[in-house]
Amino acid sequence: MPRSLPERALDANRRGWDALVPYHRASDFYGVRRFLQGASTLGRTERTEVGAVSGKRLLHLQCHFGLDTLSWARRGARVTGVDFSPRAVATARGLSRRARVPAEFLRADVHRLPASLRHRFDVVFASHGVLPWTPDLGRWMRSAARGLRPTGFLYLLDAHPFAMMFGDVRSAAELRPVDSYFRRRESTETGPGSYAAPDAPVPFPRHQWNWTVGDLVAACTGAGLRLEWFHEHDFLPDRRFPFLRRGRDGLWRWPPGVPRLPLSFSLKARPLG
Ligand SMILES: C[S@@+](CC[C@H](N)C(=O)[O-])C[C@H]1O[C@@H](n2cnc3c(N)ncnc32)[C@H](O)[C@@H]1O
Repeated sequence: MPRSLPERALDANRRGWDALVPYHRASDFYGVRRFLQGASTLGRTERTEVGAVSGKRLLHLQCHFGLDTLSWARRGARVTGVDFSPRAVATARGLSRRARVPAEFLRADVHRLPASLRHRFDVVFASHGVLPWTPDLGRWMRSAARGLRPTGFLYLLDAHPFAMMFGDVRSAAELRPVDSYFRRRESTETGPGSYAAPDAPVPFPRHQWNWTVGDLVAACTGAGLRLEWFHEHDFLPDRRFPFLRRGRDGLWRWPPGVPRLPLSFSLKARPLG
């Protein structure tokens, strides 16, 4: 019997994301105008690590308002994006029409994807800001795995659990863990702002959960997936700490003199034969 999900927390999160969509759509961080002029929102890491997608079916989990989904479509993939925020999905559909990039966008909770998505995809993709929103990593992973064809793979790129241990610090000298790496409790954020729109009002508390690298490995195995590789990176797409430096690729990294701790990870996993 699967554990029940904390529905009230998920509902608050959905409302929070709904409130953020118009601010994110207008933000420089997301760069909708650049996207409409033809720019890709995908980074070099995910482009290289996922590889050629032309003609492949790609399922994008927690796709927000679809810029990455549509960027995969521009690279030739046949894409389906899923998000539980109605506003995100409506905005994604609008951008698909406006950019004339074909895509299917569905509104669904990632933990209970519709049966119509099962065993259909060559690539299940999720990136940057996905796992902290799941209260049940095992369920998230089983859901992702069910989307795959036997020959397909899951690609996941997200903040490194290690980088989640630090609070709001202003300088590198203040950088020290304020939370246990192994903490299991939910954390709740209130107040305005997001990584892309610091002043956006968000009239709902946002609930997040912490996962360790060991939890990730266990969730993959538990979902019937074999980990092909696990990479650790020293960059993030957002300025998690004010003293990070932005590179020419738009990604944020440690400044010189600060030990290079892991900031993000990526993994590739396939269904066990
Ligand atoms: C940080 S954003 C993802 C960002 C995405 N990589 C991008 O930059 O466009 C997180 C997304 O996860 C979605 N989300 C959070 N919890 C979800 C859930 N349980 N089911 C489906 N979508 C969810 C939110 O609506 C939001 O669009």
